[in-house]
Amino acid sequence: METRFLELTEYKKNGKIGPEDEAKLQEAAGILRAGGLVAFPTETVYGLGGNGLLKEASRSIYAAKGRPSDNPLILHISDMKELEPITREIPHRARTLAEHFWPGPLTMILNKAEIVPLETTGGLSTVAVRMPEHEVARRLIALAGVPVAAPSANTSGRPSPTTAAHVREDLEGKIEAILDGGPSGIGLESTIVDLSGEEPVLLRPGAITAEMLEKALGERVLLDPALEKPLDPSVHPKAPGMKYRHYAPKAPMVIIQGKEGNFAGEELLRVEEAVDRQVDRSLEDGKRTALICSDESLSYYQKRYEGPLAKGQLILRTMGTRNREESIAHNLFSVLREMDEVQAEYIVAEGVNTEAIGYAVMNRMKKAAAQQVIYV
Ligand code: TXA
Ligand code: MG
Repeated sequence: METRFLELTEYKKNGKIGPEDEAKLQEAAGILRAGGLVAFPTETVYGLGGNGLLKEASRSIYAAKGRPSDNPLILHISDMKELEPITREIPHRARTLAEHFWPGPLTMILNKAEIVPLETTGGLSTVAVRMPEHEVARRLIALAGVPVAAPSANTSGRPSPTTAAHVREDLEGKIEAILDGGPSGIGLESTIVDLSGEEPVLLRPGAITAEMLEKALGERVLLDPALEKPLDPSVHPKAPGMKYRHYAPKAPMVIIQGKEGNFAGEELLRVEEAVDRQVDRSLEDGKRTALICSDESLSYYQKRYEGPLAKGQLILRTMGTRNREESIAHNLFSVLREMDEVQAEYIVAEGVNTEAIGYAVMNRMKKAAAQQVIYV
């Protein structure tokens, strides 16, 4: 199939949907209503949208992504009034969190209503719902007039897309259209909180932290056990997506993490030394090696590895600055994707401080590294 590229030039230029953009959004909404698939920008990552009430559309989403069909999709809405028809009831906690964090990077798991097909929820009786903040996403959903089922718009297993170009790499020829609204601001997928049980449980960390949820709710939010330790394959995880290898570059990856997680003074030296050991060994083995660091240590590695860098044996990339970990979240998936492009054979990455959004960054990095972390 030929994929239509719909570039929202006015929105990209001045952050407002213009009349030409609006026509393209109308076209995209028409595709969704007819059961087709459209990739679109959100503030977290690009989504691959389909009509969430049509089981055929959900099936097409799984097929285009190459995703196992027991991994449920998130329904995206543009207004609170769209929540009622798709849920059995709206718990008090959901109203509170919606008031605080919607529109925004928060997904809530609620009991689903009959009209939501089991194809969309991967056979579950619950449904994931999010109201994105991105103006393009909300306009598209409103024009489509249906809840939009949308997983991240990547091939299953690859890092989530944060630009329209990433989507094109993975899905060109497999979906009806791609809306280009520029890069996603946050760069990591939404926080997921399960509100379908007795107590709220954090299933996936994101820009909205467990502390922020606790403050809004005035009660404890539990962490899903799968977040803290690698999964035993016999355990059935709450968010089925957590059992698959994810965000993974093709090459094996190892993370060097400081025990205290502050990456200052002595600890930074220990991290740099341990990174050096890994990189040296990989270079000695003749592997095309990639080193992922932060702005703070970039010049150290540039000096240390002048030779291998000049010869193209080593690829050095920074994720962003430790003074603003949002910058690391924003760049992470691009950097991970680039690892495949440069055909890295071994990847050594510095860890990050796990405070605030750093917890979500480290969660994605550990998945990319299949949990290979060395603590120093
Ligand atoms: O930021 C985001 O959430 C992006 C944008 C496009 O909104 N979407 C996204 O979707 O990351 P996806 O499909 O890549 O991740 C959704 C996750 C999966 O791990 C899935 O297993 C989990 O949400 N999930 C969906 N429905 C669920 C349910 N009913 N119960 C538990 N987990 C669920
Ligand atoms: Mg995904």
